[in-house]
Amino acid sequence: MLIALVNYKPGSGKTTTAGWLASAIHERPDDPPVVLVDSDRSRAVMDWHEMAPFPFAVHLVARPQAHILIPELVPPGHDVVVDCPQVEDHRDIVMSVLELADVVVVPTSTSSFELPRTLDTFGFLEEAREELGRPLPAVVSMNRADPYDPRYNQEVRDELVKTGFTVLATEIPAHRKYHKAWGRPIRARMTHYDRVLTEIRNMKIGAPA
Ligand SMILES: Nc1ncnc2c1ncn2[C@@H]1O[C@H](COP(=O)(O)OP(=O)(O)OP(=O)(O)O)[C@@H](O)[C@H]1O
Ligand SMILES: [Mg+2]
Repeated sequence: MLIALVNYKPGSGKTTTAGWLASAIHERPDDPPVVLVDSDRSRAVMDWHEMAPFPFAVHLVARPQAHILIPELVPPGHDVVVDCPQVEDHRDIVMSVLELADVVVVPTSTSSFELPRTLDTFGFLEEAREELGRPLPAVVSMNRADPYDPRYNQEVRDELVKTGFTVLATEIPAHRKYHKAWGRPIRARMTHYDRVLTEIRNMKIGAPA
């Protein structure tokens, strides 16, 4: 399975989610081995890996030929998590990754302010489906939810659902543990990201609607 982290805009939590999700897959004894791919030229995943090496393979493939290069790097039977750059500046790279994607996860900051950005992402994914000529399951992962204001989180969730997105039940709270994770070793077991992985695994990807 290839999981692509996509958002139209920067700063939504793509890199953070990519690092934690890949780690969650790695830590599950019954899951396939995982490869983490950085397709963002800003190299945030690669820098994280240099500061605190992930215990699995990590590659930089920040080129519009990702759909050719990633299969050359990833052995058969591996799961792949791809940290994509923001679509608004790197549409060609993201489209290339989506050629391989089984599921798109859209990390979204839990704020009304983010809704127009989410609509842009929604529109882009519609275009991508048309270009690819196939369905492309996509889910929003609510990130940086307010740990003290569930009502506000629910309001944002309701608005997201109105845009037509499937929104994962797990809400990732804004937490210093997640904020400070970049550049440090992490353990994903039992975290919110581990729950996000469970939800992705439970999606009936490829099943008829
Ligand atoms: N759940 C969280 N709680 C607190 N801080 C978070 C959380 N998720 C992400 N952050 C912080 O939000 C900022 C943006 O996150 P991140 O770098 O993962 O986003 P991105 O979409 O990859 O950004 P870019 O488009 O710049 O690559 C970072 O400072 C990160 O530490
Ligand atoms: Mg990033």
